[in-house]
Amino acid sequence: MPLVPMRQILDEAAIGGYGVGAFNINNMEQIQAIMQAAQETKSPVIMQVSRGALKYANRLYLRRLVDAAVELNPDIPIALHLDHGNSFETCKDAIELGFTSVMMDGSLDEDGKTPNSYEKNVDVTRRVVEIAHPAGVTVEGELGCLGGIEDGHGAGIAVDDTEHLTDPDQAGDFVEKTGIDALAVAIGTSHGAYKSLRKDPKSGKMLPPALAMETIHAIHEKMPNCHMVMHGSSSVPKELVDLINQYGGDMPGTYGIPVDQIQDGIKHGVRKVNVDTDMRLAMTGAIRKYMNENPAKFDPRDYLVPARAAAAEMYKARMIAFGQAGHASDYAPKTLDDLKTLYGEPATA
Ligand code: G3H
Ligand code: 13P
Ligand code: ZN
Repeated sequence: MPLVPMRQILDEAAIGGYGVGAFNINNMEQIQAIMQAAQETKSPVIMQVSRGALKYANRLYLRRLVDAAVELNPDIPIALHLDHGNSFETCKDAIELGFTSVMMDGSLDEDGKTPNSYEKNVDVTRRVVEIAHPAGVTVEGELGCLGGIEDGHGAGIAVDDTEHLTDPDQAGDFVEKTGIDALAVAIGTSHGAYKSLRKDPKSGKMLPPALAMETIHAIHEKMPNCHMVMHGSSSVPKELVDLINQYGGDMPGTYGIPVDQIQDGIKHGVRKVNVDTDMRLAMTGAIRKYMNENPAKFDPRDYLVPARAAAAEMYKARMIAFGQAGHASDYAPKTLDDLKTLYGEPATA
């Protein structure tokens, strides 16, 4: 089957009441690990490519690697999504390259750092929808700004900032004016491995980041058909960080999003769950361990095999926890052409 429009994967997730992990890819091993996990759990797949990934790997290498995944896994619906597109042109380029979904992150200016005005966000997101939907391509928009910073992307907002969270009262207006298919919400999550500054005053132990789950609940109440997206949703498992630190790493003070909070989001309309950092931790831990235990080895395949296996284990755990496991063959996959008909209808909030 060809690449599937992400909108269908999200629509089906809403029908089934589950979430779908959106996993960042930069190389062959990550794609193979995602597909292994998807095969073993029979899960639909969303792979996403950031601007950093496009720069690192070259767009054509990534596109062709994803083609290979599609050809080798005809029984698994796969969507290819642009993560954090920073401009109309970046999104247009991805659509021309055959991505079946794009994120127009109009919450920030083109520099990927300065928060945008609401009007500018609406304008650029709407313009992307205007070229994407006639091509059958899904669009994700973002309202509010995430904390943290990743590879130069992000406003550098403190992870405990509450000023830039999504306003549930504005969300309906944003979805209606832009016509987007999925809404990324800022509820206090941030990119990377350091998502919390909170400590228990008595014990000094770190506490999970304070998430505005009530924002998700309120948006779901107002717009039960709106597919929400949770960025910054790595759980940063302690055992993966411990493994890195055990073998020469130096990552003190990490903290992630507990899986049960993501599951609460999924119960209330979150359909796409973005996870990148957990893969980085899994691969790095496995490579550090292998290098440490096998100092004479120097063939990259030797350490990439355990790194790929560790990533696959992590993906499997997320696919099961988000509920997408077992749903790969629930539906007949649609094409971008099929979606063009859907978008012929007026957008509904
Ligand atoms: O947006 C955040 C993702 O983790 C992608 O990160 O820009 O370093 O590829 P990146
Ligand atoms: P993490 O850094 O929590 O994995 O988030 C990834 C993400 O949101 C990609 O858009
Ligand atoms: Zn993100």
